[in-house]
Amino acid sequence: MLPAHPNVERRNVVINLDHQATTPCHPSVIEAMEPWWREQWGNPSSRQHRLGLTAAAAIGSARERLARSLGIRSEELIFTSGATEANNLALLGHARARALSDGGPGHLISVDSEHHAVLDPLMQLKEEGFQVTLLTPQSNGLIQVEQLDQAIQPNTQLVSVMVANNEIGVIQPIKELSAVCSSQGITMHSDAAQAYGHLPMRAEELGCDLISLSAHKFNGPKGIGALVVRQGTTLQPLQWGGGQEQGLRAGTLPVPLIMGMAAAAELSLLDQKSRQTHLRTLRDQLWQGLKDQNPAIKLNGALQPRLAHNLNITIPGVSGSRLHRALKPRLACSSGSACSRGEPSHVLRAIGRSRNEAEGSLRLSLGRDTTTDEIVAAIEVITSAIKALRQT
Ligand SMILES: Cc1ncc(COP(=O)(O)O)c(C=O)c1O
Repeated sequence: MLPAHPNVERRNVVINLDHQATTPCHPSVIEAMEPWWREQWGNPSSRQHRLGLTAAAAIGSARERLARSLGIRSEELIFTSGATEANNLALLGHARARALSDGGPGHLISVDSEHHAVLDPLMQLKEEGFQVTLLTPQSNGLIQVEQLDQAIQPNTQLVSVMVANNEIGVIQPIKELSAVCSSQGITMHSDAAQAYGHLPMRAEELGCDLISLSAHKFNGPKGIGALVVRQGTTLQPLQWGGGQEQGLRAGTLPVPLIMGMAAAAELSLLDQKSRQTHLRTLRDQLWQGLKDQNPAIKLNGALQPRLAHNLNITIPGVSGSRLHRALKPRLACSSGSACSRGEPSHVLRAIGRSRNEAEGSLRLSLGRDTTTDEIVAAIEVITSAIKALRQT
């Protein structure tokens, strides 16, 4: 495994176990971006002079490196501002393109426990006349292939299922779901924001036509992501302008961010296996320690298959708001997605947790710099908070 950040602030007493909300930009990634902020500030669309040509060449190389990491052709990668935009482009862009070619809106399938960056575009499409079916995951958070089979209709155009859940970390059987789709000519999209960089990922193996990525989930910069658009997948753009990204995503490309994303992707691949082993050990230590001290705690989602850096637990019988208030000075964690608008987690509700249980839940997500000491301290902090709340 690679050494931890050389200059991470350890004096800060708050333990950060909220790495699924975002990760710190790695110093080597900042270094890779540096020249593209300072000297090489050209617009890659300016083909008449060296500054522009240099920027264009750099974008070409970053695109090539990212494409290689996914086993796709570089033309199949469209840069976006992140996974939210990639999901919008995939869902709205494909559904609307198909409505044009098919003579009207069709049927789309997704899952109750997806991120709002998938659910909300689908709700928009519903307003536009599309039919939307949301599958309910099993209590372990996973979707079964038979559920998809049963939901497919003659006019089903697109299925969207995330690779790894942002709250409970479970990993969906994407290959199997994609196989069902491809055998019936249905487009398969997957939001891989929480998976790329953390799990080995080859587009061909996943079998998806559209895949969304986000750099800030794997120690890259915020504000950059991509949509993988496999050859032959039709899309309508969501914005028009200078024709960048094959006309699918107009706007000047953010060269430093793209260079940072490529560097972060390479960094994540360098030690992916050893990092996962290390984080799994720490995560299991966290789960075991919490369970030993607080036997009533319930695990949310299957322990396997699950992201190595995710733990999500429900603490029965304590008030969620009081628990989070008690933890705040010592521990940064989440009760759900960072974008969940203060509502109890819809993911936990989808797997059958009550409103109170969902409120009294913690998502604990580890990062590449998380240490054993922090895990030991987190067990102590959470256990003390629970004890204090139970006594009052
Ligand atoms: C599964 C999932 N999809 C989409 C997003 C949004 O990504 P971005 O911040 O790049 O727009 C997130 C971030 O929380 C996520 O976890």
